[in-house]
Amino acid sequence: MHSIRLRHVFRFTVMAAVLVALTPFAVAETGAEAWLRYAALDAKAVKTYQGLPSGVVVLGDSPVLKSAQGELTRGISRMVGRSLRIALHPTEDAFVLGTLDQLHALATQLNPPDQLIADGYWLKSARIGEHECLVITAATDRGVLYGVFALLSKIARAENVAVLDDLQQPHAPLRWVNQWDNLDGHIERGYGGPSIFFAEGKVRDDLSRAGDYARLLASVGINGCAINNVNADPRVLDAAFIGQVSRIADVFRPWGVQLALSVDLSSPKALGDLDTFDPLDPRVVAWWRNKVNEIYRQIPDFGGFVVKADSEGRLGPSTYNRTQADAANVVAHALKPHGGVVFYRAFVYNHHLDWRNLKNDRAKAAYDIFHPLDGAFDDHAIVQIKNGPIDFQVREPVSPLFAGLRRTNEAIELQITQEYTGQQRQLCFLVPMWKEVLDFDMRIDDRPTPVKDLVAGRTFHRPTGGIVGVANVGMDANWLGNPLAMANLYGFGRLAWQADLSAETIVGEWTRLTFGNDPLVVQTIATLQLSSWHVYESYTGPLGAGTLTNIVGNHYDPAPESSERNGWGQWHRADHDGIGMDRTVATGTAYIAQYPPAIQKLYESLAACPDNLLLFFHHVPYTYVLHSGKTVIQHIYDSHFDGAEQASAFVSKWEALQGHIDEERYNEGLKLLQYQAGEAVIWRDTICNWIYHLSGLPDQKGRVRTEPRH
Ligand code: GCU
Repeated sequence: MHSIRLRHVFRFTVMAAVLVALTPFAVAETGAEAWLRYAALDAKAVKTYQGLPSGVVVLGDSPVLKSAQGELTRGISRMVGRSLRIALHPTEDAFVLGTLDQLHALATQLNPPDQLIADGYWLKSARIGEHECLVITAATDRGVLYGVFALLSKIARAENVAVLDDLQQPHAPLRWVNQWDNLDGHIERGYGGPSIFFAEGKVRDDLSRAGDYARLLASVGINGCAINNVNADPRVLDAAFIGQVSRIADVFRPWGVQLALSVDLSSPKALGDLDTFDPLDPRVVAWWRNKVNEIYRQIPDFGGFVVKADSEGRLGPSTYNRTQADAANVVAHALKPHGGVVFYRAFVYNHHLDWRNLKNDRAKAAYDIFHPLDGAFDDHAIVQIKNGPIDFQVREPVSPLFAGLRRTNEAIELQITQEYTGQQRQLCFLVPMWKEVLDFDMRIDDRPTPVKDLVAGRTFHRPTGGIVGVANVGMDANWLGNPLAMANLYGFGRLAWQADLSAETIVGEWTRLTFGNDPLVVQTIATLQLSSWHVYESYTGPLGAGTLTNIVGNHYDPAPESSERNGWGQWHRADHDGIGMDRTVATGTAYIAQYPPAIQKLYESLAACPDNLLLFFHHVPYTYVLHSGKTVIQHIYDSHFDGAEQASAFVSKWEALQGHIDEERYNEGLKLLQYQAGEAVIWRDTICNWIYHLSGLPDQKGRVRTEPRH
């Protein structure tokens, strides 16, 4: 008996060893390394990099330059199998890392482009003395680090780096992520496990994940991270807590990521000993000044604050009849002497709107409140505007407020955490959506004024501007709870850096870095990702219908009636005769009037309004005929059936990857896509049955059950 068992064990061990030898994916992939895997290149690729320098010269010793050097050494060693020798001067062919000033002292004959601005970098093949060098330089240490990451990315993607002259500049000066982490470790709308920063009311002892996160962020050019929930706990500004937070800043610093905090505007009263938080009260002014000074004493490179006020129950300046600008400025004035900024969120609205009044419209709130204040904000304040006027729905028009501020810094807020777009359990690659938003031309004064230039401060020559993403990574090994969702974090960073990149380029880069350069893998995963937003939209919210998900609960399951007859204002106004919110100037809420004239024209008339936003702007009968020639009701049926079918086809497409990627991520991806196929059927049936019973109009293709509901 015993020997039989041993024989089995032996046979199994031999089989396992043979399998490991046969598979190229011997190392378990947890997803933790994300797009920084630096997987060993195949022999052919390694050969093409034979000419790379054999040493590295670092012209300074700041923590950021040290990270740059460490990263380069690690990346080259893992991908190409070469250990770089470290030298002080190029006594051999070397990678030369340093700022422009440092470089100038070494090699006066190099002529760096004058337009190199903060954070931008220049990769340049150059001869220094006798030696062939690859120079990675920038105006700042951080730029050098970004240059190193860019070079390593090229190598990982098997690009030719033999002769480089590559200048890259960031599109927006401030490229931040927001984490919505609570001090107890739970993350609001976080789908990747508990907080990497906090547990049980304190900063975690072990901050290694926070350091790893900063490295990931830096690799795509993100330079700031607000670490706690916008529904901020006043305790973050407690003196003892600032001491704890400074430990997080310490692990961010080597990666050039500035730490920021979300703060509660009522802190002077809630935390301090004042009986007011009136932003114009001199005691409140002094409170913020002292608090900010206290922070900078412990965190000299502190980035600043994020503020959510007068929104969803948060206190704000309306308590004292003050404006949002008064509130932003009291904080901005305190930060200004230190170079910090406040991102003041435009997500201010009344969530007790009377749903019976057809003229009420939550979508109008941000513009109504902030547009009249244009020019009243300090230049260290930035108005942070969600991409759409409601709340990260699968389809919204761009917020008109982007065009409503000319004398105010602005930033766009995108949501990487997929709150309303499948919560990272479903595949929904958001870069194509963000591209549509960033590229949207507002036609201010009838000239090209895309959102991406407005938010970067380029259009109206603002001192600053930004692109912000709500990320919400967690303790899950693969950060977001789904290895495929990481394409959104990567894509966010890449777009913030270079808003003109196409979604195809971004997903191609990400797939190569994450899964390798096998053309079948790149092609399959890129195709899945690129179609996923439209597929998700088609079974959860076609025609811009608005929120059909459960808004009072999980923001995930289909529950179309939950958005109606309450004060939240996420109405779709579906009834027996028709569906959609009338936001026209002629007969509706006049939301459309907030856009510049050319855009008003696009949305006001039924004839011009694009089908995919029809129900956002117009209330129409179900029999209304779309540009496509279909009726609204038939489109809704077809879209749900097509969407569910495509979601199911994701599974077989993924199955083609078996053996081409590691087993761990293959199995994980398969499980998730199978689950998604089932969820799509639930969505399809729930929405189709609901709309059939509401409208009484059958599906022409006979797929929707017509017996009465019990
Ligand atoms: C959404 C989200 C909230 C969040 C809010 C915000 O409404 O569901 O959890 O607090 O956005 O952006 O402030």
